[in-house]
Amino acid sequence: MDYLEITGGKKLSGTVTISGAKNAALPIIAATILSDKEVTLTNLPNVVDIRTLLKLLTMLGGTVDHDNTTAHINNGSISSHKAVYEIVSQMRASILVLGPLLARFGECEVSLPGGCAIGQRPIDLHLKALESMGAHIEIKGGYVRAEAPDGLKGAKIIFDKITVGGTENIVMAAALAKGTTTIINAAKEPEIVQLCEMIMDAGVKIEGIGSSELTIEGTSGKPLKFKTVEIIPDRIEAGTYLCAGAITSSSITLEKVDPGHIRASIDKLESMGCSFDITDDSITIHPSDDLKPVNLITIEYPGFPTDMQAQFMAVAALAKGESLIEERLFENRFMHVSELNRLGADIWLKGSIAAVKGVETFNAADVMATDLRASSALVLAALVADGTTHIRRIYHLDRGYDDLEGKLSALGADIVRKKEER
Ligand code: UD1
Repeated sequence: MDYLEITGGKKLSGTVTISGAKNAALPIIAATILSDKEVTLTNLPNVVDIRTLLKLLTMLGGTVDHDNTTAHINNGSISSHKAVYEIVSQMRASILVLGPLLARFGECEVSLPGGCAIGQRPIDLHLKALESMGAHIEIKGGYVRAEAPDGLKGAKIIFDKITVGGTENIVMAAALAKGTTTIINAAKEPEIVQLCEMIMDAGVKIEGIGSSELTIEGTSGKPLKFKTVEIIPDRIEAGTYLCAGAITSSSITLEKVDPGHIRASIDKLESMGCSFDITDDSITIHPSDDLKPVNLITIEYPGFPTDMQAQFMAVAALAKGESLIEERLFENRFMHVSELNRLGADIWLKGSIAAVKGVETFNAADVMATDLRASSALVLAALVADGTTHIRRIYHLDRGYDDLEGKLSALGADIVRKKEER
């Protein structure tokens, strides 16, 4: 297994190019199932999760020609409607094939994703909404079996809770349903906006894009013909590099980024004392040598993203004073706390709130990555720790960060990937 060896204390400088957004690419890859023609996707991030979902398409019978950042996908030849446990267990987002498979073929079986390190993460809201659209659903042998032999029907869906994946699944299902679907309390993330725009560019009428109420007029089963889609920049990757600038007290520039998508992270870093030069597609961070503490609550977009909580905790752990961080979306998303404390942080946890007392320095240690974003918090801490830190189980990082060690090395960090001796 690979691990990262990071020697802290190096100043960073220069420019980093932000990759395409994993969380935008995944639903867009799933949406290609709504078409029986070739679709081209560009600016894909070169990460494991993307390869996993593309592999699932080939297992269903689709053809995929993929070279790191571009994929030509043709799902005209899909012959199986079953997303097997071996793939879904590797990546929860595989559940995104449920809506499009059911909408296009009137039946499908998708393995239940189960829990994950950051919490239970049920899919009850996805299933309830599909049932409102006329699907018959049963759970058997660890699989969701869904049928709608006469096609899905438009419906009024009111989500009890805002769900990103649930909104995406229903937008895709509604695109081929018969009649109009209204989604109330829809998620508003930029990734959902891009999915809606892709489907709208294929001729489906969608109103309310980017708002919490979406209205979609389905094609009554007629497959879509998509234009080429260029995946939007990854706002979480971008936010992570801004935190790298803040924690190492370095000025770095992010290119190919959408500043409007990371307003919440920029605002919090500003309140900690950092300043920014911002253009349409670049951000330069000017750090503060005297980081102020921060209070933040994770909440749905456009609020502060749960996917940036761990990285901000690493930065706050070196601020002068006490920060309070509340996690509202996932019940168990604090596993990085004990690992940050191993590096010398002083974080106290009570339920969903972490009290972070700033310390002077981190000290290198052996630490373990526990989930995708928690891993990047450990990388950030290691960049400034005294000595050499080893981070194990970095397969979590490989799921979502495109060439993290290459990009950080180019900025001047001392970071190398090594193989565990057996
Ligand atoms: C997506 C993102 C993930 C991010 C999360 C929240 C992708 C591939 N993943 O995950 O990186 O952290 O949004 O911004 O885009 N819930 C239910 N029932 C459901 C569905 C969700 O109770 O049927 C709950 C979840 O347990 C969680 C909350 O709703 O507490 C939000 O989850 P959701 O927005 O669905 O997250 P994902 O789409 O899984």
